Amino acid sequence: MKEYEKLELKELNYNSYLKVPELLDLQKELSTPPHHDEMFFIIIHQAAELWFKLMLHETNGLIHDFQKNSVSRALKKLKRLTRVMDLMVKQINLLNTLTPVEFAGFRDHLRPASGFQSIQFRVMEFTFGIREEFFIRFFEKEPEKKKILESIKDKKSVYDEFLACLNRNGFSIPKEILERDVSTSWKLSDELVQTIKTIYENPKENYHWVLLFESMLDFDEKFALWRSTHMLMVARTIGMKMGTGGSSGYNFLAGRAEHRFFPELWAVRTEVGGEYS
Ligand code: HEM
Repeated sequence: MKEYEKLELKELNYNSYLKVPELLDLQKELSTPPHHDEMFFIIIHQAAELWFKLMLHETNGLIHDFQKNSVSRALKKLKRLTRVMDLMVKQINLLNTLTPVEFAGFRDHLRPASGFQSIQFRVMEFTFGIREEFFIRFFEKEPEKKKILESIKDKKSVYDEFLACLNRNGFSIPKEILERDVSTSWKLSDELVQTIKTIYENPKENYHWVLLFESMLDFDEKFALWRSTHMLMVARTIGMKMGTGGSSGYNFLAGRAEHRFFPELWAVRTEVGGEYS
């Protein structure tokens, strides 16, 4: 008797545990007859939403690690977040297999659906600290989603939690930063840049913090790379046409490509090592 013949088919199996039939029943093209490339377009978005779900899960863990002052656990969360973001960038590159004519063949069917309505993307931004009121309007017709964004707006962001953690660990963070109105956008703080500079320049006793900063930057860089890769893909697929969500498309995305979650970790690079070194 072969080994696999001895295996009993238990009630719980791969398909029932992972809900594979349900998952594979979720891809419904709207074009009639179905355009060949619409299946690809649906799957790439659904896969992205699944990865966003995992990233939000990891991000909540990261916040918890900062609250518990656990640098090593935070490093682990950031490592997975960065790897997933790397995959997200590669996924966007897959769209280079879609020509503008192929996309135009089914684009009208998905109007007015738009990435603006991705609640998980916006929750990612809000959780990390980019909280632009403008984007809440895209959930006017979905009040439960609007409520989620509004409730996150009043909580500390990942960056605020990180700074509170630094403060508890002996690095003095200005009171006005620790007690700031977290519902407003972050403003670059020169004082904070100087604190981070001191930590970078005294690595002997601070090396685990340096590693943490670098890991945070790894993630921030990958997120920024996703923004610019998505923006270039848009130029390639629809040129300068407007987005289905009503924005100017490429130019709008170009403005957002500048966004960073941890601006002082970028700014400090100009400050360290002296002007000519
Ligand atoms: C052919 C493929 C795609 C095109 C042409 C495209 C185009 C656009 C455009 C023009 C916008 C600006 C908003 C608007 O006016 O609609 C946008 C936003 C967005 N797209 Fe895409 N997109 C594509 C694929 C994707 C994929 C695969 C994802 C995966 C998650 C995605 C996620 C988003 C998100 C989250 C936004 C909001 C960005 C922000 O607010 O900064 N898009 N997209």
